[in-house]
Amino acid sequence: MANQCCSCKHGLIFFLLALLLQRLDTSVASAAGWQPMQCDAVSMNPSCSSSFLYATSEGRNLSEIAAVFNATASTTALLWPIKRPSGEVDVLVAVPCACEVINATMSALFHDTRYVVKPGDTPDKVNRGIFSGLAMNFGDGYPLISGNTVTVHLPCGCSSAASKGVVSYAVQEEDTLPKIASLFRSTSQDILNLNPSLTNPDFVKPGSILFVPIGVDDSL
Ligand SMILES: *[C@@H]1O[C@H](CO)[C@@H](O)[C@H](O)[C@H]1NC(C)=O
Ligand SMILES: *[C@@H]1O[C@H](CO)[C@@H](O)[C@H](O)[C@H]1NC(C)=O
Ligand SMILES: *[C@@H]1O[C@H](CO)[C@@H](O)[C@H](O)[C@H]1NC(C)=O
Repeated sequence: MANQCCSCKHGLIFFLLALLLQRLDTSVASAAGWQPMQCDAVSMNPSCSSSFLYATSEGRNLSEIAAVFNATASTTALLWPIKRPSGEVDVLVAVPCACEVINATMSALFHDTRYVVKPGDTPDKVNRGIFSGLAMNFGDGYPLISGNTVTVHLPCGCSSAASKGVVSYAVQEEDTLPKIASLFRSTSQDILNLNPSLTNPDFVKPGSILFVPIGVDDSL
């Protein structure tokens, strides 16, 4: 009897805890609800003429990077080298950016490329090591099978408020919003304007993707 009562009390406590956790969970999920740039964004420039991907070199030369990101000669305006404060040199890859229907619930702005799975690949390894953290949901949750070709969706951005273009940037460790802004002669406020899911300007999560408008008076 006593045991039953005890487990009954515990049951109630667990039930309440579960309810609380569920609420916490949904609020965290909505706060962290990153989305690619919507096709119908008010600020969208229909011509989408200047979209860039921020690629970390990882020891690759420009033609290798262009090939990996499907930025062929005809679609690549420029691959600009960028020097980070650390001294590393990364590149901006110019890519065409278009509204794409990914599945029943998502259409957004992407540039596509393809990747042939190698032995030992994991989604995280490929995303970081090959696609500089810019591949959205690499492999779509399916097991990676060596030799298979996977379509890779790279979120890109367009904005009439960014005449020099929009860069897709995967936040790196130690980055802050002002630091990222200075990399592209942008401002924290301009970045916030293009990234509605960024609710806390004092914390940009490493690994998350930001759309950064290139500043007008830059000398990149
Ligand atoms: C880039 O690297 C590849 C592989 O190492 C090499 O074959 C190619 O010639 C290089 N291209 C340039 C432009 O350096
Ligand atoms: C649509 O694709 C997105 C991104 O890959 C994914 O998060 C979402 O779960 C997909 N929705 C459906 C219904 O498959
Ligand atoms: C490469 O990019 C073009 C857009 O410029 C796109 O039409 C094509 O499907 C892409 N190729 C792959 C293999 O995804």
